[in-house]
Amino acid sequence: MTTFDMGADLRVRRMGFGAMRLPAREIRGPANDRGTGLAVLRRAVELGVNHIDTAAFYFRGGLTANGMIREALHPYADDLVIATKVGPRREPDDPMPTGQLAADALRREVERNLRELGLDRLDLVYLRPGGGLDAPGGEPVAERFEVLAALREEGLIRHLGVSHVDAAQLAEARAVAPVAAVQNRFDVTRPADVELLRTCERDGIAYVPYFPLGGFGVPDDARLKAVAARHGATTAQVLLAGLLALSPVTLAIPGTSSLKHLEENIAAGELELTPEDLRELQA
Ligand SMILES: NC(=O)c1ccc[n+]([C@@H]2O[C@H](COP(=O)([O-])OP(=O)(O)OC[C@H]3O[C@@H](n4cnc5c(N)ncnc54)[C@H](OP(=O)(O)O)[C@@H]3O)[C@@H](O)[C@H]2O)c1
Repeated sequence: MTTFDMGADLRVRRMGFGAMRLPAREIRGPANDRGTGLAVLRRAVELGVNHIDTAAFYFRGGLTANGMIREALHPYADDLVIATKVGPRREPDDPMPTGQLAADALRREVERNLRELGLDRLDLVYLRPGGGLDAPGGEPVAERFEVLAALREEGLIRHLGVSHVDAAQLAEARAVAPVAAVQNRFDVTRPADVELLRTCERDGIAYVPYFPLGGFGVPDDARLKAVAARHGATTAQVLLAGLLALSPVTLAIPGTSSLKHLEENIAAGELELTPEDLRELQA
């Protein structure tokens, strides 16, 4: 599997893992089985994953993504990179985040991630401004990013990222401190973010699509099915291989709480799509 050096010094395999689905598969659905989640995490690492994406606001009741990562994988392998996000505010009874934390609450959120994960320093912390799943933008980020930059100077964070941002927000953050990764919604069948991806490519910033499998079920798409049939692969695998083929800076973080899907997703890291496949997917 090919690798990417995040922030120039954290080498990750480009097929990673997203932990949001570990506590519960659906926002309002039942909690997942804890033991299965721990098994998925351990198997992911066994299969070579060394980039896990999480957040302290990924939980269902007492089951937290951070707690499961710690229970399954601590003490962590030296090469494991755990990325987390701060910004959204979610109280214990909220089914999902309801707003944004103010700048002065971000330190506590970073400290909460450190505590929950059992770490002295976080490898990568994204600032995730608001905006739900709508198009990003329109909200200043500098004041909150300055707080994270100060925590980085203190040594609590190694690298900073931004998530769900437009080009203006990315530029605003970069004027405060270096940005090692951008995490935006993107899949090869809805390439609205291509310009931002090109900026990342030019400047060596990791581009980490969220919802790499569509987020709400693998899209029922004729182009995906045609390419999948040619390779004897699943449409989910084509989506993931398509992301990795788009640019050397793209990293995949598919989420699953299923061992079967995990194996399928990681195997997609070896699926090589042709330029013709990519043209067809983006047509
Ligand atoms: N920055 C942000 O605003 C933001 C927003 C959302 C997510 N994220 C991050 O992005 C990561 C990925 O997003 P996501 O997990 O929400 O969405 P996703 O990866 O697009 O899709 C996950 C869904 O697809 C299913 N799935 C996984 N592998 C599959 C396969 N091989 N075949 C068929 N279905 C499959 C999963 O169900 P099963 O459990 O049944 O496999 C799950 O319901 C998250 O874990 C989180 O870390 C970030």
